[in-house]
Amino acid sequence: IKEIGFENEKVREYAVGSKERAELKKTLKEMREQMLDIPIVIGGKEIRTGNTGKCIVPHDNKKVIGIYHKAGKKEAEMAIDAALSAKKKWEKLSWEHRVGIFLRAAELAAGPWRARLNAATMLTQSKTYFQAEIDAACESVDFLKSNASSLYKIYSEQPISTRDSWNRTQYRPLDGFVFAVTPFNFTAIGCNLSAAPAMAGNTVIWKPASNVVYSSYIVYQLFKEAGLPDGVINFLPGSGSEIGNVVLKDPNLAGIHFTGSTDTFQEMWKAVGDNIQNYRSFPKLVGETGGKNYVLAHASADVDTLVAALIRGAYELQGQKCSATSRCYIPKGLWPEVKEKMIREISTIKVGDVEDFSNFIGAVIDQASFDKIKSYIDYAKNSHDAEILAGGKCDDSKGYFIEPTFILTNNPDFRTLKEEIFGPVLTAYVYEDERFDYAVDLCESTTKYGLTGSIFAKDRYVIAEVEDKLMHTAGNFYINDKTAGASVGLQPFGGARASGTNDKVGSIFNMMRWISPRVIKDNF
Ligand code: SER
Repeated sequence: IKEIGFENEKVREYAVGSKERAELKKTLKEMREQMLDIPIVIGGKEIRTGNTGKCIVPHDNKKVIGIYHKAGKKEAEMAIDAALSAKKKWEKLSWEHRVGIFLRAAELAAGPWRARLNAATMLTQSKTYFQAEIDAACESVDFLKSNASSLYKIYSEQPISTRDSWNRTQYRPLDGFVFAVTPFNFTAIGCNLSAAPAMAGNTVIWKPASNVVYSSYIVYQLFKEAGLPDGVINFLPGSGSEIGNVVLKDPNLAGIHFTGSTDTFQEMWKAVGDNIQNYRSFPKLVGETGGKNYVLAHASADVDTLVAALIRGAYELQGQKCSATSRCYIPKGLWPEVKEKMIREISTIKVGDVEDFSNFIGAVIDQASFDKIKSYIDYAKNSHDAEILAGGKCDDSKGYFIEPTFILTNNPDFRTLKEEIFGPVLTAYVYEDERFDYAVDLCESTTKYGLTGSIFAKDRYVIAEVEDKLMHTAGNFYINDKTAGASVGLQPFGGARASGTNDKVGSIFNMMRWISPRVIKDNF
């Protein structure tokens, strides 16, 4: 192999009358009619504990399309044994073989498996066909190819020095297993968090979020279809605390690959700390967590560009992206126009069943999310220092639907400007044009997070100044663009502060975390 090139998978349009649209609709219908019985898979063996959970369609919340079996203490112990036993052969397999399996998975995901991945994502995460396509199909493929490309670079640059002695650096996998804990909002994140350590020669225990066991299982089946040997990735749905209680205490835990809430990652970190003397190695903790992403508009900003970015950044995927825009700072001079255009745009957004392809946003993931988001909207409705400018209605009678909601507050410390909501809720604060520095400070000081942020301005001096001043507020910083929608390979994604360890999924920074170099000096 000379080079593994990497180009982003092209997003398909699913135009009316197209073959791809017909195939996706047919697959959606088939999945709706079947009842999938999803096992735990350990060392290639399917296990059905009988302790089951339901796979629910969020936009049609009485509809169950599958059940999954939950792993407990016993299965977690079995999974550790299986991962350690599979590791003996897997880590010795040449990297070309390992990576080849995942590139084959990428090829299948881009081709014959595309409709299944997208349909499962639409049904269980309530994503529109477009959001499903950019996630389940394109981003999964991109992650796998980008990881392959990173590994190629890493392995082809194993330093050798002949000065004084014969010195080699060998890129070993970690000495133990990796625990991948994955979120509900991206099929591609489940795919990447389990695959990345495995591609580098590690074996993995994968615990997907309980509300998306269905789409995660399709990814797991994809890996099997591509030829992944038994035990390399062990599929372990179930209660996070029950499984975590066993896995996090095991002396062979070598790494955690996590995306989810800041609180959960902190709990896992504490559990690792409590157990630190019992591990064989210091586990590598890699996590992407919460965000409270800002848009800062300067008086020189182009209003149409700004409004388009706010709408897409805040409301696509119901605001359930860790990168979603959830607070914005607008100068008073631009506010009347921004306000009018935002309200007009929001009134045209169609919310509803994503199986009707004309809807722009679907339902939020589950009852708990619905209740939490609604409680923030109710809080704003009942506050004296805030006003709901658009949206605000919540209805869970058929699906967990929440209207895209736009809040205005005159309190820079208002709760919806500070706390992560993870729903289609955007809060605006209007500053006096001459107090731009104050607005910059608010971007910095209002929250504990550091994931994404944007500046909208035409004035290049302003852009340069803000980019510098807000250096630590965002791992992904945008100039005249929305805060969400990083492309694998082009904008490696991740943040610091309470937003995670900033190991940039899908890049060489991340892949290096699954490697433990050994340096060999040879005097002959
Ligand atoms: N990577 C996604 C984005 O940038 C979020 O997970 O929107």
